[in-house]
Order: sequence, then C-alpha cells, then structure tokens
Amino acid sequence: MTSTRDAGAFGAAHALFRRLPPTWRTELKRILGNQGHGRSGFDWLTARKDATGKKRLDRALEGLIETLGPETARNLGGKVCIDFGAGYVPTDGIALWLLGASEVHGVDYNNLARPREIARAVRAADTGRIENQLRALQLEFAWSDRVDTVRRWAIKDVDSFPPGYTYVAPADVIASPFRVPKFDVLVSTSVLEHIPPSLMISMLDALKSRENERATHIHRVDLRDHRDFDSDPYGFLDPSRQFDAEVDADSRGNGLTLHDWEALLAGHPELGLEVSGYEAGRPHLMPAAAPKSATHVVADCVVLRSV
Ligand SMILES: C[S@@+](CC[C@H](N)C(=O)[O-])C[C@H]1O[C@@H](n2cnc3c(N)ncnc32)[C@H](O)[C@@H]1O
Repeated sequence: MTSTRDAGAFGAAHALFRRLPPTWRTELKRILGNQGHGRSGFDWLTARKDATGKKRLDRALEGLIETLGPETARNLGGKVCIDFGAGYVPTDGIALWLLGASEVHGVDYNNLARPREIARAVRAADTGRIENQLRALQLEFAWSDRVDTVRRWAIKDVDSFPPGYTYVAPADVIASPFRVPKFDVLVSTSVLEHIPPSLMISMLDALKSRENERATHIHRVDLRDHRDFDSDPYGFLDPSRQFDAEVDADSRGNGLTLHDWEALLAGHPELGLEVSGYEAGRPHLMPAAAPKSATHVVADCVVLRSV
C-alpha cells in the first residue's frame, strides 16, 4: 500500500523535476536513459506518480467516459477494445473493461506498463466514485462483479495484468499492423501528439486496416502533461525558437495545432476521421510571432473521432 506520505514524496520529487529549466530536464533524462517515452531511469517515478495521480482508476474512468462520450461508453458491451499507446499505468484499459468490453488490448510502441502500479492505481481509487460513474451510465450488465474482480486482483501481490486485459508491447504498428488485434473500438489518450508528422498517416492507415465493421476510433490529443505546459504551452510555435517536430515529437509533442489537424484530416477522407471537439487553450500565452493560422483558435486538447 502507498501511504499518503509516499504519494506526497513522489509527487514532490516529480514537481521538483518539472521546475528545472527545460535544458536541465532534457539532459538529466538523457543521462538516465531516455528523453521521451522509451524505457529510462525515470520509469518508476513516472509510473508511481501516474498511479496515484491522473491514472488512479476513478480518474482514468472519468477521463475515458469524457473522451468516449456517454453514448459510446454505454455501448461497449461485448466489444473488442484497444487502448492505443497504453503508457506506464494503463488504467484507461481497465476502465474499458469495467464498462463492459469483452476484451481489452493495451498496445504500445514501448514496453512500459507496470502491473504493480496498475494495482496501486486500483487500490488508491475512490470505489464509491467509480460506482457512481458506472451507475449513472445505466449499463445493462452486472458491472459491480467486474469492479469486485479488479479490486480482488489488485490486493494480491501482482506481477501479471488484470483480468480482461492483454498487453501488446513493444509493438511497431506501422511495420507490423497485425500486432493490433481486430477491434470494434480504439481509444488513445495523449498519444497522437507524440507521433512525428511524417509518420502520422501511415500510422492511422495501419490502425484502420485492423478495424472490424462499423468500428469507432477516438483519439484524445492533449497537451496538458507536456513539458512547459503551465507557462509556455505553445513555445513550439515561436519561429525564433528551436523546435523540430520530427525530432521533438516524443518529448515535446509534434506541434500539430487544431487547424493542422483539421487540414490533415480533410486531406485524407479515406481515414474517416474528423475533429469532433476541442478544449479552448490560453491565447494570451501564444507567442506573438506564431503563424496566424495557429492563433485563430487555440486548443489544449483536440478530440478526433470516426465520422
Ligand atoms: C504520453 S503517453 C500516454 C499514455 C497513456 N495513454 C495515458 O493516457 O497516460 C504516450 C504513450 O504513447 C506511446 N507511443 C508513442 N508512439 C507510439 C506508437 N507509434 N505506437 C504505439 N504507442 C506509441 C508511448 O510509448 C507512451 O506510452
């Protein structure tokens, strides 16, 4: 069990790290092994922070329902679901299973997920909040059995993934699309902004090739957990600063704005995706020299969805 004091210590260590100047952080990560989401000496710290923070199961469930929308969330019963770019603590996948998915596959380019931290995220969660969210959706199956099953799994000393969840990593879906099981619903959270722009269409094509009939894709592109989000979220749009979307995509995001996403998807109707919504950003933090197209509407989060 994580004590409140442990959780506070991990949060404080991570907050301290985030306060370092960006160049120090990059160098520290380089020394410890990796600058983006590949395996590194920071894995344990990131995983522990996620488990008791944004990926705590009740929070993951809330975020997932918001991304899916209540209608899709209510209709996952019996569906094969993919959590694409599952991350260190893939509780979005556990949430898909609580919502009734028949199978959930977490697919990731990097082998990062840690069952012990998933268990921690389940134990740390507010079960009442999970139950309230599931009850509010008026699901037509015995979801409380699944909540019990996941909680029972989490109190054991776990080294395997929870029931209903299969982890597929490392998986390069462009080179080997068949690694992605055929699916009905595919969700990604904070993943597409890390794909270099030159690979984006091949990647979306590869995912599309694995869909079952009438499949749904939903991608939440979110800048919130990125370097410099608090004080300089759109610094990459300042032409006077060094930013290479191809090279920096993993650590800083690929720099695609709401406008870029709309243009990209309009140019590739075969993907059957559109921008279905966005959360407004903070225009006052936009660099003065940013291109006009980017400043028109500023978004911190963009949701892409099957048409
Ligand atoms: C910011 S993390 C988000 C993790 C998780 N979805 C969440 O909400 O916390 C981005 C994840 O995308 C994965 N990723 C990056 N490129 C990928 C690719 N081409 N295919 C699959 N996963 C990828 C990374 O390994 C990492 O786990």
